[in-house]
Amino acid sequence: CGIVGYIGTNDAKEILLQGLEKLEYRGYDSAGIAVLNDNGVTVFKEKGRIATLRENVNEDVEATIGIGHTRWATHGEPSKLNAHPHQDETERFTIVHNGVIENYEQLKKQYLQGVTLKSETDTEVIVQLITAFVNEGLNVEEAFRKTLSELHGSYAIALLDKEDSEVIFVAKNKSPLLVGLGKNFNVVASDAMAMLKVTDQFIELMDKEIVIVSKNAVELKNLDGENVERKPFTAEIDASDIEKGTYAHYMLKEIDEQPFVIRNIVQKYQDENHNIVLDNDIRQAMLNTDRVYIIACGTSYHAGLVGKQLIENLANIPVETHIASEFMYNMPLLSEKPLFIFISQSGETADSRGVLVNIKELGHKALTITNVPGSTLSREADYTLHTYAGPEIAVASTKAYTAQMAVLAILAGEAAKAKGIALDFDLIKELSIVANAMETLCDRKEELEQIAKDFLATTRNAFFIGRGIDFYVGLEGALKLKEISYIQAEGFAGGELKHGTIALIEKGTPVIALATQKHVNLSIRGNVKEVVARGANPCIISMDGLNDESDAFVVPAVHEILSPLVSVLPLQLISYYAALHRDCDVDKPRNLAKSVTVE
Ligand code: G6P
Repeated sequence: CGIVGYIGTNDAKEILLQGLEKLEYRGYDSAGIAVLNDNGVTVFKEKGRIATLRENVNEDVEATIGIGHTRWATHGEPSKLNAHPHQDETERFTIVHNGVIENYEQLKKQYLQGVTLKSETDTEVIVQLITAFVNEGLNVEEAFRKTLSELHGSYAIALLDKEDSEVIFVAKNKSPLLVGLGKNFNVVASDAMAMLKVTDQFIELMDKEIVIVSKNAVELKNLDGENVERKPFTAEIDASDIEKGTYAHYMLKEIDEQPFVIRNIVQKYQDENHNIVLDNDIRQAMLNTDRVYIIACGTSYHAGLVGKQLIENLANIPVETHIASEFMYNMPLLSEKPLFIFISQSGETADSRGVLVNIKELGHKALTITNVPGSTLSREADYTLHTYAGPEIAVASTKAYTAQMAVLAILAGEAAKAKGIALDFDLIKELSIVANAMETLCDRKEELEQIAKDFLATTRNAFFIGRGIDFYVGLEGALKLKEISYIQAEGFAGGELKHGTIALIEKGTPVIALATQKHVNLSIRGNVKEVVARGANPCIISMDGLNDESDAFVVPAVHEILSPLVSVLPLQLISYYAALHRDCDVDKPRNLAKSVTVE
């Protein structure tokens, strides 16, 4: 889901469509654009892919101003009717919106009695409100600001006025939005990648700000109409980083990039003497806390579980890892000196941000570990650690996950040092061994493709088991498989399966077991025997040195606590090939969004 806008001298349609194509990775189920010329506003929208939208855009409509949108349905099913842009009754105003307006029913009752809404979306209420306020005598900017001040919830908005082809009005609250600057043109985008082709100069919007964007100027204001000054920044993403190159899918490219990412992280966190360096404030924060609370969603949550092991084992600090959306409404009793760590690839996930806002209000300190340093979670936390994974485009997260764990290992190592605990291994060296092991694994794709065929070609479901840190990797393996192949997959603690879920094991049910931990090697193998006795088809992925003849796949030996960085690779690749064999859209799985900016 995302929005784009363009005002300038070139063909707006093409720039908007290309922008939307670059936002495809964020996940969506419908898309649309609106362009404005002397004949008025023309709206094109379709359910499904941007390619379908492109086919249905009338090439003959010439315009140099327009807005566009990809929608990930929240209010109202994915359909052409509910797709954006939306217009008011008079069709004077046209809007695209990302986010959720929580009080739209109430606003409808309060201000829009007698107005017939065409769609089921909360967005249409915004555009109808603007018209209602203009009808009351306000000018467009005033009506826009008044409308925004009535909204509760999140929004990134772009608005066209049929009677003024010189401006696009934009606004933001909680949902990300940037204004891109060009010569004789300006653009609007939910993220820089959408418009990198035309500019690398962007101005970041803060919550409850609006911008009046014209061809040669951008005017930033707050909701009271007071001017705001902000300097542009240069987006440091190489346009080639977001191309697939010779790869069939971004996911495969990103899996292959993992050895490089780990080496890059090791380098970025080293000084000239090859010592790891971490911001002193972060070291102090780790030193001062009596308990770390890791907050995250999805794959980042799984990295957080491994993070708990790393920080507890290396630095001897108690850690709790929580799902953001649960923590939000069910906060545990906090320790006296809590430190919050938010893990988020995008830095924009609404569930995590909700927790950040709450704990900041309580006066607690927060560190964000993210792949996007300028993101909301990074800006609003006290400290940031960058994961340096480069843009991750595939919806299913791979390199961001391993990068998060590498950075957590560095953080844990530094916290240990700060506390005077000597590690009995050299972290830089061990991470280099991890990178080499990853490289070896990337060269063994054929074996993993065969495993995917043997175990997952026709199955309805699959189970992943492991003990300790392997359990956490199993959760991630199951999530990857579900996300892209739609095979029902669940991760379990090896000892827990027998307490209920074993009832689901039938003849041939694949059970993928991880065995990379010496102290539980025998017990996990025991758990495998239990399921085999009930007909399961076992696929043991073990680590060199702990392996058995019958194991399906053996990963190179690395330091045990860093094993998730390596053992997840075969799971990522098995999921990839399973999805491929099932003809699934690997990079754009159904119903999923890359960055979920709604709660
Ligand atoms: C979405 C994505 C997941 C991701 C999760 C958290 O659901 O589809 O792949 O793990 O959000 O995203 P974040 O950007 O906060 O890591």
